[in-house]
Amino acid sequence: MRLWTKLAVSLGLILVFAFEAAGAFVFRSVEGAHLERFSRALAAQGELLAFHLAPYVARASGEREDFVLADIDNVLKNLSSLAGARVQVLGADGVILVASPPDFGAVGLRNTAPEAKSALAGMPASRRGIQEGLGRAELLAVPIEHDGATVGAVLLVASMEEMYADVGRIMRLYVASAALALGLAIGVAGLITRAIAAPVEALTRQAEAMMGGDFGVRVPVYGEDEIGRLARAFNTLADRLKDALDASDRERRRLASILTHMSEGVLAVDREGRLTAINPKAIRLLGLTGSAERWIGRPAEAAFGLAPEEAEGSLFSRPGTFLFDTPEGRTVRVTTSPVAEAGGTGAIVVLVDVTEDKRLEARQKAFVADVSHELKTPLTTIKSHVEALLDDPPPPEVQAKFLATVARETDRMIRLVGDLLFLARLEGEAAPLRRVPLSLERLVRGAAERFRPAFRQAGIALALEAAGADLWADGDWDMLDRVLDNVLSNALKFTPAGGQVTVTLGPADGGAAEIRVEDTGIGIPEEARERVFERFYRVDKARSRAHGGSGLGLSIAREIVERHGGTIRAEGRPGGGTAIVIRLPAVAKAGRAPEAGREASAWPG
Ligand SMILES: Nc1ncnc2c1ncn2[C@@H]1O[C@H](COP(=O)(O)OP(=O)(O)OP(=O)(O)O)[C@@H](O)[C@H]1O
Ligand SMILES: [Mg+2]
Repeated sequence: MRLWTKLAVSLGLILVFAFEAAGAFVFRSVEGAHLERFSRALAAQGELLAFHLAPYVARASGEREDFVLADIDNVLKNLSSLAGARVQVLGADGVILVASPPDFGAVGLRNTAPEAKSALAGMPASRRGIQEGLGRAELLAVPIEHDGATVGAVLLVASMEEMYADVGRIMRLYVASAALALGLAIGVAGLITRAIAAPVEALTRQAEAMMGGDFGVRVPVYGEDEIGRLARAFNTLADRLKDALDASDRERRRLASILTHMSEGVLAVDREGRLTAINPKAIRLLGLTGSAERWIGRPAEAAFGLAPEEAEGSLFSRPGTFLFDTPEGRTVRVTTSPVAEAGGTGAIVVLVDVTEDKRLEARQKAFVADVSHELKTPLTTIKSHVEALLDDPPPPEVQAKFLATVARETDRMIRLVGDLLFLARLEGEAAPLRRVPLSLERLVRGAAERFRPAFRQAGIALALEAAGADLWADGDWDMLDRVLDNVLSNALKFTPAGGQVTVTLGPADGGAAEIRVEDTGIGIPEEARERVFERFYRVDKARSRAHGGSGLGLSIAREIVERHGGTIRAEGRPGGGTAIVIRLPAVAKAGRAPEAGREASAWPG
């Protein structure tokens, strides 16, 4: 049942009871007052009759003469002013001397009523009850005294119906006005309780809405009383709560989005070592299956595929860092930082993929070792020759040979260091490409022509197939020239006399231009075809060294080609020999002659 209905019903019941109690009281009072007045009037009547009848009755007891009785009758007629009252006059012996009209027949009979007896004994008596023909009535017996002796009694019976009718009229009037007042009172009470209950109900509804997460509801404020102040306080509370919740919601979403988009994997661990959060990156790094929800609540160790350390508590209860190898072969650095949380210490665990760092580190170490090794060989040669010259100078022709060796090894070291510096500059972007539109045909033809005498001398045929290939690229002439230089010098180095080298320029798929340098030389074993592009990698070290090569040429070539957005690869040829295939993005022919570009991008040194 709603509050206002309860209030209204209780108030209504109280009002009904109050009116009923008041009604009962009024009825009692009115009835009492009427009854008393009625009895007093009857008693006065009785006294009057008794007084006036006394001389006649005293006489009548002796003689009972008819004229005396007639006198009595006269007195009765004159004095019986009470409407509807019946009168009997008794002699001292209780015999009825005279009676008012309906009781005529009783004259001469003895009245034996107890009240009559009491009155004849000198004591007035009365009784109320139902009388035939009169309804509710009062009977009064009064002694008639004469000269100090009781000579008879007068009995009066008066109907009270008229009096009750009066009382009834008064009560009906009361009930009618009370009903009207009650109706009005109940109506007003309803309105008042409604006015009190409505804001309370509104407050309840808002509290319920707030419980359901809706903070938009507002309670109307009707005034400055307690309920008005409560409503105002409630609205303010709702505003503050909404603000606080919004703020924490924003914060949570921001945090979630940071976590989701972080490049590091992050896990949150509670004081019992259970996961409370895990971001997508952590899931990927650890190679876990399923969504984050699947892992929440499970021991953090499970995400690492480890069994929890029973004796020492969670692995993540202490700050620290360790490296973890994932099932997918990656290396992850795991850093645990404790975080104070309610009732204990949790932890934030950050995962960083250090696979690349480790690979780089290994590569750098290998590189330093390779460089040291490459430098050590010529230095040892130089040292031994110089020592020989110093200690025990050989004959002059041998000295000249030794000095020539020293000069060759020094040249090789200078070339090596130069190549390394160039490679470092290329990788460090310190050597920006000076790109101009250039004719690839001119580039290829220029390089081939430069090498022609050397090929002729080595007894190798050199063919150029670039006819009609009017292909242009946006490139750095000197850099690309350096690529062709190395590829052609390799073909020259690794092709025996009598061999054939063919340079082809033509279009390739996807708007690319392709330069192929094919030879009929010693070839590159299939498993080494990718590795020849690594620094210092040579298939046959001794042979390559004999040609003065350090194994950097193709790695520099790949670096340059890739910086032009192209590719370079080594292929085997069916009849033995090698094909080096270079692809570069081709561009529309430019109006500018590539020579102009060449001048503009003179090789810096
Ligand atoms: N045309 C080819 N035929 C056979 N082997 C080749 C050919 N080109 C390259 N190679 C192999 O690849 C290796 C690497 O070549 P790269 O040009 O990088 O080094 P290099 O020629 O030995 O030294 P550098 O170019 O620094 O003088 C060579 O040592 C050789 O073993
Ligand atoms: Mg080379």
